[in-house]
Amino acid sequence: MYYTPDKREKVTPFDQLGIVVNSLPGDIYLRLYNYVPHERVFTGDQKHMEEDPWENDTYFAGYSYMQIHWEMLSDVRRCSAYARAIYENSIDFKDKLVLDVGCGTGILSVFAAKAGARKVYGVDASDVVHKAELVVKANNCDNVVEIIHGKIEEITLPVDKVDIIISEWMGYFLIFESMLECVLFARDKWLKKDTGLIFPYLAKLYMAPINYDKFYRERILFWEKPVEGVDLTPLINFAKDEFLNARCLRSSEIQADDLLCEGVHFKEIDLYTTTNDQIRTTRGILTFKKTSNHKEFHGYGTWFEVIFQGSDKSRSVSLATHPKELKTHWRQDCWLFKDPVPIGDDETIQIWLEVCQMKWKRHYNVNIISKIGHRDPLSQSWSI
Ligand SMILES: C[S@@+](CC[C@H](N)C(=O)[O-])C[C@H]1O[C@@H](n2cnc3c(N)ncnc32)[C@H](O)[C@@H]1O
Repeated sequence: MYYTPDKREKVTPFDQLGIVVNSLPGDIYLRLYNYVPHERVFTGDQKHMEEDPWENDTYFAGYSYMQIHWEMLSDVRRCSAYARAIYENSIDFKDKLVLDVGCGTGILSVFAAKAGARKVYGVDASDVVHKAELVVKANNCDNVVEIIHGKIEEITLPVDKVDIIISEWMGYFLIFESMLECVLFARDKWLKKDTGLIFPYLAKLYMAPINYDKFYRERILFWEKPVEGVDLTPLINFAKDEFLNARCLRSSEIQADDLLCEGVHFKEIDLYTTTNDQIRTTRGILTFKKTSNHKEFHGYGTWFEVIFQGSDKSRSVSLATHPKELKTHWRQDCWLFKDPVPIGDDETIQIWLEVCQMKWKRHYNVNIISKIGHRDPLSQSWSI
């Protein structure tokens, strides 16, 4: 049995669960220690889990804290991309009805109001809405922006249709949190057919094999060196179990020169047409040809790009979290093997990739079979 470090709650380490569980950005134990509160661990059926409000309660509770909004609002690239996308396309916003799905502190709603919208509905299920109301007032937009407290799936909008949906729904690995599902819900229910716009409208998820030697040295090879004359080598495998387990290293920084070759996108989501089913499962075969001088690879890195486009296509704006770009709060995500894999200069890496939503819908399993050159395939699964 495991306990939280303060010994107050029984917990289960996330990666020791043979079954699907929830890990939530708002769950303090999970965020800090990667534990799941013991009483939330089910061996049981999906029905039971769907009825359990814990997943949503802790998720929305997480968004009521300043910490998470500070992370997002201090991300200059994120905020400036949204501001540019909305202001540079103000011709599309002028006198229009706008729905801000998951308005948080209300920043995007304020952008839309300043861009000339007739009315903006900012909807959020978290208690952050009370702060959003203050922000809207402080920016003299309270005659245009109406903040609505509730889940997008449960609220009533005062209008039948809107002209534009704006939303910042992207999680780590783009789809983690599955907030995109509530944007699609809003699209199907309220967006004007044919003329309605979604900001952003396109999202792409990229992957590349990486050399992550810096992490391997820091966390694994570290145990090979004595500390003040004490041999710690018996602990190497414990370190591997803990640091290189089946969990994705979310929000890890990858440098452009950690890449074995340019990334390829394996998922493209057109927000006007995509369905929940298309997001819930992704399968693909990718081939990478090494272009760097690295002799080893440690796993895969992933990142994403979203594109905003209004009626004037020349004013489209991109927000990409590629390792060569300046940092965002998403950084990149790493999917590491337990041991480095040697790779020759002329060897290709071919992978069979499968991404499946877990029963707890904010989470995904990622399975990759990697074939390096002519060697036997390696199979590995991770969760996020
Ligand atoms: C990533 S934050 C973005 C906040 C804000 N738009 C910004 O850009 O700073 C997502 C917000 O969406 C809200 N949210 C997520 N799912 C929702 C749903 N189904 N209904 C209403 N709000 C939701 C969360 O509570 C959170 O405040």
